[in-house]
Amino acid sequence: MTQFNPLSKICSLPTIAPSLLAADFTKLGQEISECTDSGVDWLHCDIMDGHFVPNISFGPMIVQAARSAAPEAFLDVHLMISEPGRYISDCIKAGANLISFHAEADAHAHRTLNAIKEEGLYAGIAINPGTPLTQIEELLPETDLVCVMSVNPGFGGQRFIPSSLQKIKRLVTWREQMGLNFLIQIDGGVGTANAEEISQAGCDILVAGSSIFGSDNRKERIQKLFQKAIIGSSNFA
Ligand code: DX5
Ligand code: ZN
Repeated sequence: MTQFNPLSKICSLPTIAPSLLAADFTKLGQEISECTDSGVDWLHCDIMDGHFVPNISFGPMIVQAARSAAPEAFLDVHLMISEPGRYISDCIKAGANLISFHAEADAHAHRTLNAIKEEGLYAGIAINPGTPLTQIEELLPETDLVCVMSVNPGFGGQRFIPSSLQKIKRLVTWREQMGLNFLIQIDGGVGTANAEEISQAGCDILVAGSSIFGSDNRKERIQKLFQKAIIGSSNFA
């Protein structure tokens, strides 16, 4: 039996987490308000360093801006950076609630997960599409969330890699077998065409960037994604 995960108190699951990477930064506050007014409580902030991934996005300053725009939101900071441990305190100061980092970027992931939790935050581990789940098996008891990358990290607007669904299903099985309670997140290429299938596979948090911010009607798109995710999870076998 899966143990109760305190993260599930943050919002009902499955949930949709807009990725601010795809937002219009000239009106970030308004973009965020449109999300929170549409029932979103979870926001995803993608920090990229141009080293671990081939792109530079933004740093903790934008996390801080998101915190000011949405004091009540749950801020999920996805670090796509080398040596993630160096930036934990900056992210905490900026107002993060959860920090996830890549298993491929940290030789001391066990220590980093615990360092994040010791600061009173939730800790997540992310893995690239080419990384086998066995690489994080021993980390699972330490983690609050596993972020399954369904695109190669670095850019928004890429195509969903279908084999990610198998990873989600295997994580669901492992979680049950190990008696753990981490949440499962998918990140990359999520839209209305696949949200149902993804949550049917057992995914708890669906990150969506270009699907939401690429739409003229963000509210309608968010509602549609929620609808699909809820239908999918109700058909979870
Ligand atoms: C990819 C980022 C994702 C990205 C998702 O490197 O981690 O969070 O913003 O964007 P879409 O939904 O456009 O694939
Ligand atoms: Zn991300």
